[in-house]
Amino acid sequence: MQGKSRVAMSAAALTILSLLTLVHGSSESNLYTGVSNYTFSEDFIFGVATAAFQIEGAWNEGGKGESIWDTYLHKNPNFTLDSLNGDVAADSYHKYEEDIAMIESLGVKYYRLSISWPRILPQGTDNYISEDGKKYYRTLFESLLKANITPIVTLFHWDIPTPLMDLGGWTNPKIVDYFEDYARVAFNLFGDLIKIWTTINEPHQHCINGYGNVFFVPALDSHGIGEYLCTHYILLSHARAYRLYHKDFRPHQHGKIGITLDSFGVNPKNESNLDDHIAAEEYLQMHLGLYAHPIFSSTGDYPKFVRNRVDHMSYEQGYTRSRLPYFSEEEIALLKGSSDFFGLNHYTTYLISHCSWDKSWRIPSLDQDNGVCLEQNLTWTKPGADWFTVYPPGFRKILNYIKRNYGDVPIIVTENGLCDYGGLEDYERVSYFNKYLYQLLLAVNVDKCNVIGYFAWTLMDDFEWNDGYVTKFGLFHVDYNSPERTRTPKLSATNYGHIVRTRKIDFDFIKPPLKQQKL
Ligand SMILES: *[C@@H]1O[C@H](CO)[C@@H](O)[C@H](O)[C@H]1NC(C)=O
Ligand SMILES: *[C@@H]1O[C@H](CO)[C@@H](O)[C@H](O)[C@H]1NC(C)=O
Ligand SMILES: *[C@@H]1O[C@H](CO)[C@@H](O)[C@H](O)[C@H]1NC(C)=O
Ligand SMILES: *[C@@H]1O[C@H](CO)[C@@H](O)[C@H](O)[C@H]1NC(C)=O
Repeated sequence: MQGKSRVAMSAAALTILSLLTLVHGSSESNLYTGVSNYTFSEDFIFGVATAAFQIEGAWNEGGKGESIWDTYLHKNPNFTLDSLNGDVAADSYHKYEEDIAMIESLGVKYYRLSISWPRILPQGTDNYISEDGKKYYRTLFESLLKANITPIVTLFHWDIPTPLMDLGGWTNPKIVDYFEDYARVAFNLFGDLIKIWTTINEPHQHCINGYGNVFFVPALDSHGIGEYLCTHYILLSHARAYRLYHKDFRPHQHGKIGITLDSFGVNPKNESNLDDHIAAEEYLQMHLGLYAHPIFSSTGDYPKFVRNRVDHMSYEQGYTRSRLPYFSEEEIALLKGSSDFFGLNHYTTYLISHCSWDKSWRIPSLDQDNGVCLEQNLTWTKPGADWFTVYPPGFRKILNYIKRNYGDVPIIVTENGLCDYGGLEDYERVSYFNKYLYQLLLAVNVDKCNVIGYFAWTLMDDFEWNDGYVTKFGLFHVDYNSPERTRTPKLSATNYGHIVRTRKIDFDFIKPPLKQQKL
């Protein structure tokens, strides 16, 4: 079944292969000795990022409505590793002043955070706006600005109001109207304060793992159908919010608005095997291109490869119509160019190989449509969650991939950070930030990638979705055994602050005691 489309691909893939080989990951061992001469420009944006559901808590205070994460975890407490939920989280709803003091202590001037949709629209719809919700975010944004910190606000970081989820969430075509209405409310309420917006955070993770699988809420497991419907209407929702801002708000609010996508880095498993190079390219088309191509490419619409593959697979499987919906010409135009910057979240890299079957695939599913195998390089450090390994050169490669495919659109790295199991002496995290930021400097200075900003994920240990509170990404430790949710800086906070203030990376600034150093 897949054989046919594979043959048709290979001419195009050969060109891709020659492009891919332009960027080699340099040998890692001798890259990080001594102090790099590359520096971050004075106007380079350094920030830290969080998301409402992961830190706010106060799930039912101030008239807040429920998001699907509230509802689902109350019904299915076992969904998270530790059976805990976001009811209190880091309690940032009450402790935001401490959060702001922490951000100030790092010396960063930008804070990426999200608005909880049901906190300002408890039913999801714009007929009723919560006064408390409005007051909370206005106070928060004003306090940040008073501390000379620019808020960058995400409208949707996965916490859809439950009443809208009950209507199908992102698979319901009407969601496009409801999201536009929510965006209008947010621009009206806060647009005088907020000059950088992002619409949607990681539609790829949300749709694939939440609608096509069971890893994230709503855990619909509608594999092969749900992830594509979600993708389709989440993209249109983004575009409508962008156009709304552009037409009705930008003229007097003068801000920028974009989307945040995510991508793993990819390495062909066998560097000298053409099929693995093709597989790596097809993986990126299917996972990053699916979202990026309609917005950032010069032609618009879904990537041709994805269109053809899903149409073909659907037909072979007996469907009358493709499982991937079609955009109208008008919708293609609505989406094309609908982002002022490319927000990228990046954490880790996988090895990709050509394979004809993997036992984890279901029929139908995006995984089977894609038809490639993923694995980790077992020699790479794995300091926390199972999905997470450390491979800094993968970061530079994906930045180059974006430049090659989507031109010189400004890139803001809206998330990057390391996952471990906790501890204040987080040498692995110090090293991760040093090495990944060094790869960013190489991408900017050597490869001329247009990266204008970087946000560390995350300000403090938080609710990490299905991991609960087991895995940690914070620059600040949060004591989840204390009702005070006491915050304490980790070594990585000191190190990140040093980078931000000096505008360069000092690999010798914080080093593990000799006995912990690896060769
Ligand atoms: C920094 O650049 C100078 C001048 O090119 C060079 O002499 C020096 O070795 C460099 N230092 C490092 C650590 O790369
Ligand atoms: C939680 O998991 C346990 C063990 O698998 C199971 O017995 C129990 O019914 C689950 N509880 C809920 C609320 O799903
Ligand atoms: C890698 O691919 C090349 C070219 O197909 C092949 O000759 C070689 O055996 C492969 N190496 C491994 C380790 O599979
Ligand atoms: C795994 O990583 C090591 C160290 O970076 C590298 O030498 C090796 O070639 C990698 N293996 C594969 C299959 O990519």
